[in-house]
Amino acid sequence: GAPVEVDISKIEPGQLIRVEWRGKPVWVVNRSQAALDELSTFEQQLKDPASDEPQQPEFAKNQYRSLKPELLVAVGLCTHLGCSPTYLPDTFSEQVAGVQSGFFCPCHGSKFDMAGRVFQNVPAGLNLVIPPYTFVDDNTIIIG
Ligand code: FES
Repeated sequence: GAPVEVDISKIEPGQLIRVEWRGKPVWVVNRSQAALDELSTFEQQLKDPASDEPQQPEFAKNQYRSLKPELLVAVGLCTHLGCSPTYLPDTFSEQVAGVQSGFFCPCHGSKFDMAGRVFQNVPAGLNLVIPPYTFVDDNTIIIG
């Protein structure tokens, strides 16, 4: 599959856009400051908070799992059986108490934070996949 260029200049804080790369949905999310701030507050509830899984890109082995803190780029497929999780920017606390934003998979209830890190006590075992990508300039990324 060919690399995909994405204009990120018009993504509002909190907004998620979907692009397709190699036949898969990829999310590009402009994370709000509130979403970034809470990432460090519930790590004891995550299976792999530092993303030590070997298949993750090196730059994803941190709490943001991204090249720039504000921009999340992740394959939008649940790591359990491949359903597409739902983005809950404001109501995720109904899934995990005290956490405002995240992703909920409607198929079997897996839960992921705003860095795509999987919570404990759900069927998915791995964090969401971070694809390879680079910044061309401040407004543009290339996925792949
Ligand atoms: Fe997402 Fe099973 S496919 S929880």
